[in-house]
Amino acid sequence: MTGDSTRSVHEAEPFDEHTGSLTTPIYETSTFGFARAGDVPVAVAGFGAKGYTYSRWENPTVVTLENKLAAFEHGGDGAAFSSGMAAISTSIFSFLNKGSHTLAIRDLYGGTFGLLNHLLPELGFSTDLVETTDFGALERGVRKNTSMVYIESPTNPTMKLVDIAKAAKLAHSNGAILLVDNTFASPINQNPFDLGADVVLHSATKYLNGHADLIAGAAVASKENTHKIKMMRRELGGTMDPLPAWLVLRGMKTMAIRVRQQNASAMALAEFLSTHRRVAAVHYPGLKSHPQHQLARKQMKGFGGMLSFEVKGTTKDTMKFTESVKVATLAASLGGVETLVSQPYNMTHAQMSAKDREKTGIPETLVRISVGIEDEEDLVGDFRQALAAV
Ligand SMILES: Cc1ncc(COP(=O)(O)O)c(C=O)c1O
Repeated sequence: MTGDSTRSVHEAEPFDEHTGSLTTPIYETSTFGFARAGDVPVAVAGFGAKGYTYSRWENPTVVTLENKLAAFEHGGDGAAFSSGMAAISTSIFSFLNKGSHTLAIRDLYGGTFGLLNHLLPELGFSTDLVETTDFGALERGVRKNTSMVYIESPTNPTMKLVDIAKAAKLAHSNGAILLVDNTFASPINQNPFDLGADVVLHSATKYLNGHADLIAGAAVASKENTHKIKMMRRELGGTMDPLPAWLVLRGMKTMAIRVRQQNASAMALAEFLSTHRRVAAVHYPGLKSHPQHQLARKQMKGFGGMLSFEVKGTTKDTMKFTESVKVATLAASLGGVETLVSQPYNMTHAQMSAKDREKTGIPETLVRISVGIEDEEDLVGDFRQALAAV
């Protein structure tokens, strides 16, 4: 089983040995009974060592998803969460030590930015957020007590890249670990674990599930690091429920074909927008004009279904565009089958101060696009008519 589509359908999901059910059963239970009292201490102490105990710890449907996630991200094990932010915050808390320092890039998802820029410092943990595309800034940012380096690539919504292999080397040379949010790329387009990352994170709400109908998160790491994350998950309580786990398993069956279509349509839209007179700039790693196109070719298998562009005009013109699309919908979130457009300045990145947004390169005229699986011609046509309305 080597092809991404074959693996999307079959990986980690043998048919149920008890009933022959073709699809993974939903074990919709909070707790598990024991036939013998002697089994209880083993189950409680061990991590699924012998059977299951309580679904905040582990659940068979969720474990099946975790095995599938680990296989797709080439890690030792996976941990599924009730949201992407639960996966991110629990993973970060798993590796924080007293006196430790966390180094991150500035271009982060708004929630992660808030966590690293506000919450952790308020709790007494030092963090630094540095310029994303200046690798020297990351090198200079490492301190003796840096225990974690945190990056996203491509970044949200600016589509900047970070050299993942170099960031892993930098972290490891300081005895730190590298965490990578791989939400934007999806495992079909990029595998940070193969480039040296220690923890790969996802908002499973997005490409993994792919249908914009649930909130979920995932972390993939070595067996040892995943165990650490799962122990913290027990404490913080952000475990995924069995029903969303089953839905993500179902969504993942079409992940490869969805993502391939999204890659192709994103490229077509990027090329169309690049030549349009009402467009000031297009940010897509697949374009030769992208300043890090060579890095994208090196570390990505596909360029993804996310892009952003700047409207040549005012904030009002930009609002006119996002209100005028008909096939696409003005909405936050990404990675689903429906094409979405959003204005990061007052949606996904509204938590950022205007000054931070300016530093990061998020003008009010920036539009982020999450390309769905609609026909390419319909999408290009829709964007053409919406730009004409500006
Ligand atoms: C790159 C990225 N990481 C993390 C998250 C947070 O995920 P969730 O909304 O599932 O908590 C998002 C949400 O939009 C995201 O875009």
